[in-house]
Amino acid sequence: MGSSQIGVFDSGLGGLTCVKQLQKLLPHENILYLGDSGRVPYGTRSHETILRYSRQGASLLLSKGVKAIISACGTISSVAGASLAQSLPIPYFEVITPAAKSACSVTKTGRIGVMGTSATIKSGALQNAIKSVLPDAEVFPIACPLLIPMVESGHISPDDKLVQVTLELYLSQLASCKVDTVVLGCTHFPILSEAIGRYFGDGVTLVDSGRTVAEEAASALADSGILNDRGEGSVSCLVTDSPDGFSAVAEIFLGQNVNWSIKQIDLSEMEGMKL
Ligand code: DGL
Repeated sequence: MGSSQIGVFDSGLGGLTCVKQLQKLLPHENILYLGDSGRVPYGTRSHETILRYSRQGASLLLSKGVKAIISACGTISSVAGASLAQSLPIPYFEVITPAAKSACSVTKTGRIGVMGTSATIKSGALQNAIKSVLPDAEVFPIACPLLIPMVESGHISPDDKLVQVTLELYLSQLASCKVDTVVLGCTHFPILSEAIGRYFGDGVTLVDSGRTVAEEAASALADSGILNDRGEGSVSCLVTDSPDGFSAVAEIFLGQNVNWSIKQIDLSEMEGMKL
C-alpha cells in the first residue's frame, strides 16, 4: 500500500496548484493526477452533472488502486465532497474544510471574502464551513466564473490587461466590503495569486485552497502511516482532452518543464461504477 499512488482529481488544470504543494511536502510520493480537461469547467454546470462527473473521476482513480484521493477542486469538493467522503473506502480529502479553517485562523476582523465558481458559491459550502468555525464571521461570497477559462487559456500575469479588467469586475465588490482575508475557493485561482494580491494590496491575506488541502492530506496520511519513506516521487497524469494542450498550459502554471507521463482517457466509461 505504501508504494501505491495518491490520486488527485480536478476538472482541469487548477488542481496542479495542490500537486505543486504535495511535491514539496511529500517528496517520496507518487501522484496520479486526473484532469477532466475535456469537460472543464464544472463550475457552471448543474448539481447533478457535477455529482456524476465527480463520481466518474473518483471511480477511475479507485480503479487504478490509489491509496487516497484528494478532490483538488472547490466545485467537486463543495457539491460532491460529502457524498464521496461517505462512499469512498480509502482516505479522502476535500478543499472546503481546510480552507475555511485557515481563513478563520488568519482573519483579524472576521470579514472574509470567498471567491469560487458559480456552483461553489451557490452551494454555500464555504460560507457554512467558515460560519461553523467562526460563527461571528461576516462572509462575502463572489462567484468568478470567467476566471477559469481565462486561467485555462494562459492569461495569468498581473500585467495582462484581460486579467486586470476581469479582476476589477469581480473584486471591486469585495474590496468595498473591507475584507481582511480572501479564500481562493477554486484551485484555479492561486495561479492568479500575484495578480489578486496586487489588486488588494498588503492588508488582505489570501488563502490558497490547493495549499491548505495539501497540508491537511500530508499530515493525515503521515499519521496513518501509509506514506513512502524513500525514493524519488513522480507525477503521472490522465486527461480527457489532448495531452499536448495540457502539458503546454501546465508548464505555464507550474513555471517548470513538465516531463510527466500524460495519457488521454475516456471518463464516461466509468458510468456504470457504483460510487
Ligand atoms: N478547479 C475548479 C474549482 O476549484 C474550477 C474550475 C471549474 O469550474 O471546473 O472549482
